[in-house]
Amino acid sequence: MQMAAPHLMVHAPANPVVVIADDNPDVVEIVTRLLAPLGYRVDAVGSGQEVLNRVEAQAPDLVLLDINMPGPDGLTVCRTLRGRTETASVPIVIISAHDDEAHRLEGIQAGADDFLPKPFASELLTARIESLLLRKNLQDSLENPESVILSLVRAIEAKSPYTQGHSLRVATNSQRVGQFLQLSPAKCQELYIGGILHDIGKIGVHEDIINKPATLTEDEFAAMKRHPLIGTDIILPLKVTQSAIEIVRSHHEKLDGSGYPHGLKGADINVETRIVAVADAFDALTTDRPYRKRLSRRESIDLLDAEADLGVWDRDIIRAFDEALVRRRTKGDADL
Ligand SMILES: [Fe+2]
Ligand SMILES: [Fe+2]
Repeated sequence: MQMAAPHLMVHAPANPVVVIADDNPDVVEIVTRLLAPLGYRVDAVGSGQEVLNRVEAQAPDLVLLDINMPGPDGLTVCRTLRGRTETASVPIVIISAHDDEAHRLEGIQAGADDFLPKPFASELLTARIESLLLRKNLQDSLENPESVILSLVRAIEAKSPYTQGHSLRVATNSQRVGQFLQLSPAKCQELYIGGILHDIGKIGVHEDIINKPATLTEDEFAAMKRHPLIGTDIILPLKVTQSAIEIVRSHHEKLDGSGYPHGLKGADINVETRIVAVADAFDALTTDRPYRKRLSRRESIDLLDAEADLGVWDRDIIRAFDEALVRRRTKGDADL
């Protein structure tokens, strides 16, 4: 399957701060001269205790440690930094005149990410620092669930020009309707998150099926129908609420039991899921699709209203959509 590249945002600090701990001013000067032109801020300290004080004041982006220096030596400082939650993941490079296996081993065992013997080649030092910082920034970005989720959503929407912005519109409209229905702020937040995530399982559906400009065959439709459960599996390990998970799993269920994946009926579909289901259908109707042109907002609501008469949608929610998103808009409410 050809996959669109996820646009993972790696948040790199503009001027990374490197703390260098070395009691030899010549080494400090060389490192400063190497790194300053590359945009680094270099803070030099001359003893083990000074490193600990400096790092405690504000965690730097990387630490370069000599082994032999006054106060606690570099290995002790390294172990201390690794043991503190705030500095456990700061990259640490040990630079030492002792280039033998025993010292390397000690450095690694103390928790250093890398070991550079003195004297070092300038290219080697900068290459090691840059690769450690890149890894740290990538790790920080991956630990931020919001950035991972948004990257995934962008990757899915990149598979089809027809669905650009779909998840965000479904999220925003669902939240507005939740607010109109005076649901609690927590529920409105769940509507937004569920809306953002609802189609995340489409990452597991081939783009030829997603973009097919004609009715799907039975097999293709069966593949498409798997996306709510694929999406549920993707988001289960994330810290999202049960309600958001339910939205992802059941956003294609319909009140009359004709939906998928489980053919749920009526009261088995909660209010949040009903709202996102209508927001999803409304967005599909009001945007061009490979197989048809878009309808106006008024035509879309009228169509959904007719389907509510047949028992497909919750009539109160269609009314709320009409009030919150169509009538108010036509009255010139700039915010809606
Ligand atoms: Fe969907
Ligand atoms: Fe959708």
